[in-house]
Amino acid sequence: MRTITDSGALRTFIANLRRSGTRIGFVPTMGNLHAGHHSLLALARARVDVVIASVFVNPTQFGPNEDFTRYPRTPEADAAGLAAQGCDVLFLPGVADLYPFGAERSVRVSVPGLSDVLEGAIRPGHFDGVATVVAKLFNLVQPDVAVFGQKDYQQLLVIQRMAHDLAFPIEIAAAAIVREPNGLAMSSRNQYLSAEQRVRAGVIHATLQWMVEGVVAARQPAAQIEADACERLEQAGLVVDYAVLRRADDLGGVENPQQDGCVALVAARLGSTRLIDNLLVEAGAVGDV
Ligand code: PAJ
Repeated sequence: MRTITDSGALRTFIANLRRSGTRIGFVPTMGNLHAGHHSLLALARARVDVVIASVFVNPTQFGPNEDFTRYPRTPEADAAGLAAQGCDVLFLPGVADLYPFGAERSVRVSVPGLSDVLEGAIRPGHFDGVATVVAKLFNLVQPDVAVFGQKDYQQLLVIQRMAHDLAFPIEIAAAAIVREPNGLAMSSRNQYLSAEQRVRAGVIHATLQWMVEGVVAARQPAAQIEADACERLEQAGLVVDYAVLRRADDLGGVENPQQDGCVALVAARLGSTRLIDNLLVEAGAVGDV
């Protein structure tokens, strides 16, 4: 695996690949890689000739009171894991390289609407930071396919919308959520949890499953399912930011969850750790039970 740390060297490398008609796959990350990230690599690997991963803890997507400085940084382990997964190139830019005018003064990419609800309402500016850095990375890497995890469902929708609206000639591929045996979605932030909290956090996936089953069986109105889901999470000692059913394509409110394509989404805090997860009501499952 080759490591490239500056955008000039990356541009030269990419220009050569493009000249030879090589198909490029891209997996952007913030590092501290786990099996969830590795699954994105595998999906890219199966689709293209050359796989490029980036590791960059992006300052513009963290709020002033968030964990930018203490976000786990594990560069050696990340490089070893990527090489073992068959990654061809690791792009490791510095902040000054991606934000030549300073992070504060950067041109911003904003995806209105989708960025303003749920995570965006709780973390103002977060998705502008995500869309901005991903647009920059897309321009540098010029991939044919870029892979994102369904773990960050709203982020996936924001990136799909941005790529479409800004006419990036890039296919956005979605990778399924990789989970711990107790259902906890793998996340770099899971390491903030104690062993006991990790076990308890399994309630999030259990609650999502319960919500989806409720929709499929038309057990209750959506609002009642949401209220009961909140209560389940709170009884397990979590502080709930939201536990909702939304339209899967635009995160709008669901009128008729049995007919609208629908996703259950939860954000909750366990101690000082904030966890997000989601589960799609699979097309075709509705009405089958
Ligand atoms: P990061 O949190 O490092 O995640 C990188 C990618 O891995 C994202 O597409 C995310 O959805 C995916 N991912 C994380 N955990 C996963 C899991 N358990 N199963 C499947 N996929 C998982 O998301 C970001 O970084 C940043 O916002 C980024 C897009 C890199 C922009 O800075």
